Amino acid sequence: MFETIEKEIIKNKQFLTDVLDGLSSDSKHISSKYFYDKKGDAIFQQIMHMDEYYLTNAELDIFESHKSEIARIFFPEQQPFNLIEFGAGDGMKTKVLLKELLNHEIPFDYVPIDISQNALDQLHQSLTKEMPDLSFKGIQGDYFEVLNKLKESNGRRNVVLFLGSNIGNFTNDEAQSFTSNISNKLNPGDLLFIGVDLKKDPKKILLAYNDSKGITAEFNYNLLRRINRELGGNFDVEQFEHHPTYDPVTGECKSALLSKIEQEVELDGQTFHFAEWEPIHTEISRKYSLKQLHQLAKKSGFEVKKDLFDANQYFVDSIWEIV
Ligand code: AVI
Repeated sequence: MFETIEKEIIKNKQFLTDVLDGLSSDSKHISSKYFYDKKGDAIFQQIMHMDEYYLTNAELDIFESHKSEIARIFFPEQQPFNLIEFGAGDGMKTKVLLKELLNHEIPFDYVPIDISQNALDQLHQSLTKEMPDLSFKGIQGDYFEVLNKLKESNGRRNVVLFLGSNIGNFTNDEAQSFTSNISNKLNPGDLLFIGVDLKKDPKKILLAYNDSKGITAEFNYNLLRRINRELGGNFDVEQFEHHPTYDPVTGECKSALLSKIEQEVELDGQTFHFAEWEPIHTEISRKYSLKQLHQLAKKSGFEVKKDLFDANQYFVDSIWEIV
């Protein structure tokens, strides 16, 4: 109990420090990792069910149409393996794969890793109901710490899932160091299965981040509301406007909150001045070309084993191996 409270306090301190740093910067910014409180998680669930947000259905399509091929690739030598998932969420897509593996009586442990114990508990609950035979070994913690332990502990093959184009929320440098870090913690024969949104018609991309019902806008506004709720800020959310842009050259879809008026915001005894239409940059959702993705694989020590596409070729699940 005390440990949980202590962790919460440390987490909030970090949140405050990062927000103060970001708002003090010449180009104001707040990391999209802070979108995901309870309210933010719920809005993201809504986003994933929107027609405009094609990413979820595209990846689901890949899972549905290639599940037996994926199972074969995960299980070439008929040896038990660890199916590790980074940030599983509600496991909607993974469930398709888990069911396929169970139907073929393939022995594996499902090891979702998440920083949120609450997310893991919910996932565990829903999975035990739907798949009582599943060996669920959820671990709460930092991705890399857990991978390190797995590398040392059992001689099993590791297959790491990183779905949903979460890699797109990293800058180029962050993505590079993230995949290199994973590769350093895996053994030869281990796999990384990575879901990535591809470059496409800019209008299609922009609509996914600027939906007609304003759900994505709400997702962004919730960040300011969260700062008010948890850190005692006084953002007048009505005076900010959600503003996504897409640059087909870099593949970066960037979201910002623009101050509609000149205004001041108080937080932790400090005053932050906003000029009219000044942005706070909140998120980057990068889209890749297949070539860029393959370069990332190579640079981080992987060999691309297979690319799986949805029927529209909007999205790729790329399977990388340590050789
Ligand atoms: C979680 N992540 C991959 C989503 C994305 O597409 O960048 C988050 C999101 N932001 C706005 N809509 C969805």
